[in-house]
Amino acid sequence: MSVRLLKVMLTIAMFIAAVFISGCAEKQERPAPAPQVRFDDIQMWINAFEDPDRHIWQKPEEVIKKMNVRLNDVIADIGAGTGYFTRRFAFAALTGKAVGLDIEPSMVRYMKEDAKKLGLKNYEARVVKTDDSELENNTVDIVFLCDTYHHIDNRIIYFSKVKKSLKKGGRLVIIDFYKKKLPYGPPPDHKLAKEIVISELEEAGYQLLRSHDFLPYQYFLEFGV
Ligand SMILES: C[S@@+](CC[C@H](N)C(=O)[O-])C[C@H]1O[C@@H](n2cnc3c(N)ncnc32)[C@H](O)[C@@H]1O
Repeated sequence: MSVRLLKVMLTIAMFIAAVFISGCAEKQERPAPAPQVRFDDIQMWINAFEDPDRHIWQKPEEVIKKMNVRLNDVIADIGAGTGYFTRRFAFAALTGKAVGLDIEPSMVRYMKEDAKKLGLKNYEARVVKTDDSELENNTVDIVFLCDTYHHIDNRIIYFSKVKKSLKKGGRLVIIDFYKKKLPYGPPPDHKLAKEIVISELEEAGYQLLRSHDFLPYQYFLEFGV
């Protein structure tokens, strides 16, 4: 075998190895989807999400202030649960709209009853599919997720679609638990590190605008498109 042929074969082998190694590295970086948790035991989750002490660490009024919600904003809360944040968005955007989206019909029923009790005509709630927020193109000022991002599968595809729903200058806000042992939230292996969220959303076409660090257990990230 000639030296030239040997060199060519060596180059091909090195190229195949490099592709294989980079493929493995990518697989290691991309975390496996979190095990699916169902939120159908409504009473248990009402107790958790609406815990009267939650405001101490969740600081909802400060979050909404930092988000700079305007009176006529349209805000979509994906994975809204009992609407802990959605109802507050409805009060903050009185001439706009707050939409609570969830895959659990019992959560959506709870939000609808809550909106009726509070007399909030600008508070809607809808059941959505696990793989699609079903938001219409160019209709939303802020898409918000609190403690829900890590539940969503195929996030790059999901949030690429979500991006189309944002109006010009619209934002995506993600609040989720730091990936470590905490007194609240899921176990660490269900959580996603802040850096993973940022890199995934950059891949989906967003840019990080601000990262707020006043919440003790959660990162709070604002993205633009
Ligand atoms: C941990 S709870 C957070 C509830 C609420 N955001 C809060 O902060 O109180 C997560 C919620 O996301 C919902 N959920 C999970 N996967 C979802 C998906 N793919 N699309 C929309 N909602 C989802 C669950 O049913 C549940 O109500």
